[in-house]
Amino acid sequence: MSASSDTKRDFVSSELGTKEYWDQAYDREIKSFNDVGDVGEIWFGEDSQERVLDWLEDYGGVVTEDPVIDLGCGNGVMLLEMAKRGYSNLTGVDYSEGAVQLARSIADKEEVACIDYQVADLIADDCTRKYTCLTRQYKLVIDKGTYDAISLIPGDDIKTRQAYLKTVRQILSSDGVFVITSCNWTKEQLLHFWETDFKLFKTIPTPSFQFGGKKGSTVTSLVFTHKS
Ligand SMILES: C[S@@+](CC[C@H](N)C(=O)[O-])C[C@H]1O[C@@H](n2cnc3c(N)ncnc32)[C@H](O)[C@@H]1O
Repeated sequence: MSASSDTKRDFVSSELGTKEYWDQAYDREIKSFNDVGDVGEIWFGEDSQERVLDWLEDYGGVVTEDPVIDLGCGNGVMLLEMAKRGYSNLTGVDYSEGAVQLARSIADKEEVACIDYQVADLIADDCTRKYTCLTRQYKLVIDKGTYDAISLIPGDDIKTRQAYLKTVRQILSSDGVFVITSCNWTKEQLLHFWETDFKLFKTIPTPSFQFGGKKGSTVTSLVFTHKS
């Protein structure tokens, strides 16, 4: 199956696909954190984060010292939760400087020192050479909402998503797992795109709804490994 044939999507581009949107959002969230200590949006809710982390513990293939990276980490709350569960080799990257600043402030306040937050654009040319944190490989690569955001870039071009896929492929260690959580794409659409280069390892169960005889999920969490 060719990724270039993947043109089917049932949502439209939006400002959530622009860096300006995220820079402004994190400027507001930094102010709110400084004013009232609010850490900001937890995308898809805490349950969705817990489901991924609970699965990870059941899986047991990623131990607490293994290198972990959260792509498009935003406020970094996912990694903070991992630190609380004992993981100690944690990296978070986001292309918005505001996100990284917010994530660092929250970690400082929580006195968590084992997370390295860095600014990096995951679809930039040569990003896996340009940014030191992307020159390494990780046993666990996490995406919660970042592929969704990248898919919303105005004038969506599959080449942009393929650039992201290439980044994931290069930084995932040969025995590593890539966990993606999406609300814009269905399981079938995610498989259609990601299975060009990765193999489905696990579908993490998420709540489903039934309407008009059809069953669906609001959020999909999939685990992929390298193909070989
Ligand atoms: C929907 S938010 C999810 C944030 C976080 N993962 C969470 O679950 O709370 C998408 C994040 O992806 C980041 N992002 C979007 N495009 C990116 C890119 N090309 N490189 C790095 N980060 C990007 C945004 O700045 C934003 O923080």
